Amino acid sequence: MSTRGKTKFQINLRRHLRERGVKDDLVHLICEIAEASNYIINSIRTGDLGVAGTSNLYGEEQLALDVLADRIMTKRLLHSGVVGNVLSEEADDIICLSTECGGRYSVAFDPLDGSSLVDVNLAVGTIISIFEGCNILLPGRQQVAAMYILYGPRTTLVYSTGDGVHEFGMNQLMEYTLIKENLQIKPQANIYSPGGLRNLFTTEIERYVRDLEKRGCKLRYSGGFVPDINQVIVKGSGVFMYPHLQGHPNGKLRLSFELNPMAFLVEQAGGAASDGHGPILDRIPQGKDDRSPIFIGSKEEVALAEAYIAGLDQ
Ligand code: F6P
Ligand code: MN
Repeated sequence: MSTRGKTKFQINLRRHLRERGVKDDLVHLICEIAEASNYIINSIRTGDLGVAGTSNLYGEEQLALDVLADRIMTKRLLHSGVVGNVLSEEADDIICLSTECGGRYSVAFDPLDGSSLVDVNLAVGTIISIFEGCNILLPGRQQVAAMYILYGPRTTLVYSTGDGVHEFGMNQLMEYTLIKENLQIKPQANIYSPGGLRNLFTTEIERYVRDLEKRGCKLRYSGGFVPDINQVIVKGSGVFMYPHLQGHPNGKLRLSFELNPMAFLVEQAGGAASDGHGPILDRIPQGKDDRSPIFIGSKEEVALAEAYIAGLDQ
């Protein structure tokens, strides 16, 4: 059911999760994360564009927004009482919030992805990956849930617990209510979003991009991973890439808290996510800082990237 039409009742996030049969602890965790996002939005909207280590008007130490977002989220995860280990983009290491891991979750997250876009007032987001138990460095296919919150002109939340992908919007009471469930990505892309410096593209990626343009794909790139992926998921077509570059064989984006959760969501919506050779979700993490190239979105264009990289197009 969609609320884009004339639906009478708004379905909130908690009710949606319950109706889909999600376990109580996971419902609680996802709702706590959603709650944390209220405070993050507030800091983005009203906070100083503080640089960590400087003081504000009252002589208090200011925190850069990404550091603040990290503190808000970590506190909330601790408060949830169901989280064992956490790995944040802002932290140097995996942090153990609780040593009792039975029945608990571990969470990898990017508290404020694209934070350098806040001063120019472009959209940014929070990305979350959830595993059951204590181990956070597992292949992405073992995630039990993934989600992101997008702080744009509107605030939206997109989640999956392995049962489709669902979009929520924040209402005037700061509650998330259902916009659309079971989002689907078509097999063919009509837009492309290429990260990285084009003159560092390898020959096969340059040829792939020219092919995308020949196929009629329009360039749509904001420079924020969350809005760029959201565009593909919500419009239901497109391919995002942050490829390997000359001198940067692993690209830029991080597996644990950027690529795995987005790959989980996109696969759940019927799309694909590849490192250029195979599914992102099958990669076995070697460490918390793993990076990987990514080609993600409509299936045909993701397969086309793999074909160019394998030299099969010749
Ligand atoms: O987290 C890194 C990030 O800011 C993403 O949001 C974005 O997709 C990417 O970097 C942009 O990188 P570049 O500026 O190199 O295209
Ligand atoms: Mn990031």
